[in-house]
Order: sequence, then structure tokens, then C-alpha cells
Amino acid sequence: MSGNWKMNHDHHQAISTVQRLIFRLRPEDYRVADVCIHPPFTDLRSVQVVLDNDDPQLMLGAQHCYWEESGAFTGEVSAAMLAKLGVTYVIAGHSERRQLFGDTDEMVARRVRAILANGMTPILCVGETGEERDQGWTLERIRDQVKGSLDGCTADQVGSMVVAYEPIWAIGTGRTATPDDAQAGAHAVRAEVEARFGPEAASTVRIQYGGSVNPANARQLMSHPDVDGVLVGGASLDADSFAAIVASLVQE
Ligand code: PGA
Repeated sequence: MSGNWKMNHDHHQAISTVQRLIFRLRPEDYRVADVCIHPPFTDLRSVQVVLDNDDPQLMLGAQHCYWEESGAFTGEVSAAMLAKLGVTYVIAGHSERRQLFGDTDEMVARRVRAILANGMTPILCVGETGEERDQGWTLERIRDQVKGSLDGCTADQVGSMVVAYEPIWAIGTGRTATPDDAQAGAHAVRAEVEARFGPEAASTVRIQYGGSVNPANARQLMSHPDVDGVLVGGASLDADSFAAIVASLVQE
């Protein structure tokens, strides 16, 4: 269960949001789920200190990274630096990075490999645009992105990863995919992982749905077998709403 804050919450707001989230999450939530929040880079150290002191079960995530360890790369943050900060999960290839900042599958694959090499878990994002969906290219697009973005990974690595199926037309639009759409996309991810990395990796890779998830629809979106969790944007900015989404995994 991942909360992607995107470019929201300065470090003061981050501290109060995470404190409220810690107050709201229950032991039963942690029994069934890994829960992670992905604040902006400038908040990571502040949030890490809060988590270390108050709730080591809530995991720290990042939204992006660069693959080189250090050097003359002005403005970039390396996977190695994130690992030093106690980051567990790093998002790679979010559609906003792909669409606004030019990330290609090849670049995403380099990020994924750097995240793994530094002992962290990638959350690889894939998903089709509205136009691709209208043309009937959804499954092909997902397959291509999974193939290209996992290039150079081993079966064991892929089996330990998270892949988020995020249809771009559903991100931040309030237009949610149906549970059947979420299942179809997640199933396409799992099938492609199986074809390239074998049945073992396909059975252990965790697959999320993302795109306008909220407390009212989260449970339904996770009701099909291939959807193991959710990657939440807007609704994770508020601690109460993100905690309610996490709790929806536990409800009978
Ligand atoms: P959203 O974002 O929940 O605000 O649609 C999801 C995401 O981009 O990961």
C-alpha cells in the first residue's frame, strides 16, 4: 500500500501528516500489508527521523532516483543516497516522469537496476494513455513497458519487486478504472513477467493498481486476484484518507 505524495507537502507538512498517519494505522494493517509513503526528496530526512522514533513499521519511499552513484549530475539524487536514508521502496518510471520528463523504458530499466543494486525495492509503473486504450492497444502497451523496463533483471529480482499498473487516463482525473480493468491490466503484467522470468517470479511479484484510488473504491479495486495492493496519489496526502484506504485491505 503506497502513498505517492508527488510534489506536495513541504517538510513541516510532511512531519504532521506522517504523525497523524502513524496515529491512524493499526497493528492489523501491518499484519496484512507493507505500508509505504513516498514524500518529495526534501522531506525524506525529516520523515525518516519521525519513523525511526515513532513507527519503524511504516516504510519510507522515494518517487524517483538517478542510476549513477555519484558525480557531476546536477540536480539528481542517486539510489545510493536514498538507501543511506533508510528508503525501502523507490518508484521508477511513473507516468509523470515518462510524459513530462522524458523517461524511456531504457532509462527506467537503469533506474530499476540501480534501486535493486542498492538493496531497495522498485515500484515499476506501467500503463497506457487514453488514446492507446481507445485504439485497443492497452495490453500490448503494458507488455512492452514491462519487457523494456525490466531489461537486465534476474527472475529473483523481478519476483521481489512491485509493479504498478496505472492507466494514465485514470491518474489524477477522478476517472477510476473498473475493478475488471484493474484486473485485466494486472493480469497482463503478471503474464508478461511469467513469459520472461518464469512462474515463480510471476507468483511472487506484487502488483498494484493506481489511478484515482480513494477510500470508497479501494476495496473493490483490490477484489480481483491479480491486484495485490494500490499506489495512491491525491488521496494519500491526507492521513485519514490514506489510513482508510489501507484499512480497506483488512475489512472482511
Ligand atoms: P492519483 O495518482 O491517485 O492522484 O490518481 C496515482 C499515481 O499517480 O500514482
